[in-house]
Amino acid sequence: MPALVVVGLQWGDEGKGRIIHTFSRHADAVARYQGGNNAGHTLVLGNNEILALHLVPSGIVYPKVRCYIGNGVVVDPKALYEEVETLKKRGIKFTGRLGISPLCHVILPYHLQFEKYLGEGSRLGTTQRGIGPAYADKIARDGVRLMDYLDRDLLREKVIRNTRTKLSAFARPAEIRAVENQIFQEHKRLAPFLKPLVSDVSLELFTMLAKGKRVVLESAQGTFLDVDFGTYPYVTSSNPIASFAPCGVGLGPKSVDAVLGVAKLFTTRVGEGPFPSEIKGPLANRIRESGLEYGATTGRPRRIGYLDLPLLKKACRINGVDRLALTKLDTLAGVRPLRVCIGYKWRGRILREMPDDPRLLNGAQLIYKEFSGFSADLGGITRYAGLPASAKKLIDEVMEFTGVPAAIVSVGRSTKNQVILDPKFLKEWL
Ligand code: IMO
Ligand code: MG
Repeated sequence: MPALVVVGLQWGDEGKGRIIHTFSRHADAVARYQGGNNAGHTLVLGNNEILALHLVPSGIVYPKVRCYIGNGVVVDPKALYEEVETLKKRGIKFTGRLGISPLCHVILPYHLQFEKYLGEGSRLGTTQRGIGPAYADKIARDGVRLMDYLDRDLLREKVIRNTRTKLSAFARPAEIRAVENQIFQEHKRLAPFLKPLVSDVSLELFTMLAKGKRVVLESAQGTFLDVDFGTYPYVTSSNPIASFAPCGVGLGPKSVDAVLGVAKLFTTRVGEGPFPSEIKGPLANRIRESGLEYGATTGRPRRIGYLDLPLLKKACRINGVDRLALTKLDTLAGVRPLRVCIGYKWRGRILREMPDDPRLLNGAQLIYKEFSGFSADLGGITRYAGLPASAKKLIDEVMEFTGVPAAIVSVGRSTKNQVILDPKFLKEWL
């Protein structure tokens, strides 16, 4: 013990990478538990260098931290190879540091083609990385696991069965053969890269925890992109919520000691789907520009909205959040007044938790509370007492509404720019 889950509480891009970067400094291992290279975790290193990670866990920047990709993740071998090569060029050492579960399902070129063919990319606004089709194959028992991928004959058999049944509806036989050949050609280069990375993630993490080592379980995406609890069907195809974390790495539920929920102090979303507190026009543009709110994976401009407390309250409940990490307070400087959603009004009733029903999500009237806002540059502030009064009121409101204390508030891009509210909680981890 202990294991800490770091989970996103909104629609992704909450700043999970940055928070894990902070928390994994003294961790022994960081393990990703779901999603794939649809994720984009941006880290700002000490020298202001920016690192965008997609599959590799955010702990990789610390040489002593061992990084794992758990069974719940879908791995595109080519994307992983390219990411590792890029990171190596940036001076990050990989030898003996990255382990991947053989139970991970792999994303193959036909998954990307299938996503395009189904038109999911445009209908749902996906990242077009083949995530949905790869998870669909996993559940349908047609998937190729990493252990299958490394067995050349089994790979050939599975690929041919899948391509011929799944692609025949929209691709000509010559095209199907071309995809198959592409997979077998790439396999020659990618299998020797992947083979030494295979490790029994479940057993290794279990052993580390038994020895009292510190393990961070890293989510991708966020609670409202969760396939069960998100704004279905505008969701991703996995379960980012905290209770999936032990499943996605092969640990028992009692191995989790604490859940840290990450939320931005406003809301963003990439892709289609309901977004009740969305704002458009000059204010949205201003927040997008000052917060650099563009997708780290696809470069798409993120949709912008006010902080939605009923949404956050529900996320805290579903994830069993112990402490909050609130990010990007600095982006709100100069937004005056500052509006925060505190309720959904539907047919005369006021709801304090965001509803599931899309009719309510689209039709309810949102109730806002206004704060006067602040204009100061928050960069150098490291203590709660040093924050402007209106910023303190905002943070207090979030804690009171959700019933969850905040441990950390970020006030600038670097991990140095943060206010610590709960030194005791952090001391156990930093
Ligand atoms: P991180 O880890 C924000 C969104 C896509 C789309 C939906 C489904 O950086 O927070 P998919 O390709 O997963 O089938 O797309 O999910 N999406 C994300 N949005 N941050 C992410 O990851 C996301 N990963 C997927 O935009 O709406
Ligand atoms: Mg992101």
